[in-house]
Amino acid sequence: MTAAPPRSAVLAGIGAYVPPNRVTNAELTTRLDTTDEWIRTRTGIAARHVVGPGTATSDLAVEAGLRALKSAGDDHADAVVLATTTPDRPCPATAPDVAARLGLRGVAAFDVAAVCSGFLYGLATASGMIAAGLADTVLLIAADAFTTIIDPEDRTTAVIFADGAGAVVLRAGRPDEPGAIGPMVLGSDGGLSDLIEVPGGGSRERSGGRPAEEYGRYFRMAGRETYRHAVEHMTSASQRATELAGWPMAAVDRFAAHQANARILSAVAERLEIPAERQLSNIENYGNTGAASLPLLLAQEAQRGRLSAGHRVLLTAFGGGLAWGATTLSWPQLTTS
Ligand code: UT7
Repeated sequence: MTAAPPRSAVLAGIGAYVPPNRVTNAELTTRLDTTDEWIRTRTGIAARHVVGPGTATSDLAVEAGLRALKSAGDDHADAVVLATTTPDRPCPATAPDVAARLGLRGVAAFDVAAVCSGFLYGLATASGMIAAGLADTVLLIAADAFTTIIDPEDRTTAVIFADGAGAVVLRAGRPDEPGAIGPMVLGSDGGLSDLIEVPGGGSRERSGGRPAEEYGRYFRMAGRETYRHAVEHMTSASQRATELAGWPMAAVDRFAAHQANARILSAVAERLEIPAERQLSNIENYGNTGAASLPLLLAQEAQRGRLSAGHRVLLTAFGGGLAWGATTLSWPQLTTS
């Protein structure tokens, strides 16, 4: 009797999309008590893309999904998983609508909510579906119209968060082939859920108990404290993921971390002893795009040629929940456009 060979999720296509409207720091200074210098030195951000009136998360997700399917040379997936914090509506999930608009009406489709770690949680979910034989191909999209939940007058968040989408096609393959998703590390700490939250709009508010106006409808973040946890968890998750993959840290060719803040990225890379030339970053021109951050970064860097076949890539993310994660993969030969 022979055992069936293990099935792994393998990266087969990637794509990204940002809305055309680009907002510079200078533009933000016209309506917020901030400066270009503060934003650049404290966050590393110079500009970001934001949705125009009427554009929702699904619109970004469909564009990224189309590009990922094109990159994979396919127009089908057995399932669509959408990681987002900004669904089009509280109910139903946004993924079925995205699937239908991609010509995939009828397939399994659902949302994953893990804020800025959503792409890695989605990757774990999609990989699990493939490993279990539930799907042979999964389209995983991470999309956020994050600015729709940001208080435009809150200078502590309005200068950081932005909008965008990234997507990958995962297909069933072998664990030892290029593009196979490596061991996954995921964690959370709900004891600190108040550090990053949108307090209103959910069942806590609707079931009463406190006046509705006490619940804010906007996103808020305790930045300084969050910063500390971001550095700690992205560092330890990265260490664990590389250990599980059997990689010494020196073997990492490209380090892709959630684009939360340029200072956080440098602090994590420094702790991991990953030199600057191996770090990927697009925060300067795209800001923090929530769940979209990692696949947007990967798609752009692959297109620019900074990320190419054979590179050993370490991925990590951290965000509200708190929730964090890390994984590894050897970058496969992909078509990007
Ligand atoms: O994506 C999910 C995970 N997110 C993160 O991991 C983000 C983590 N946190 C951060 O990136 C940083 O904490 C921030 C960028 C949010 C803030 O940077 P910081 O260096 O931690 O600043 P701070 O919060 O300690 O504030 C320093 C000062 C304060 O003034 P005082 O109290 O020193 O007088 C703030 O009021 O900077 C002030 N400040 C600003 N000043 C000008 C806060 N925001 C601004 C602003 N412009 N936009």
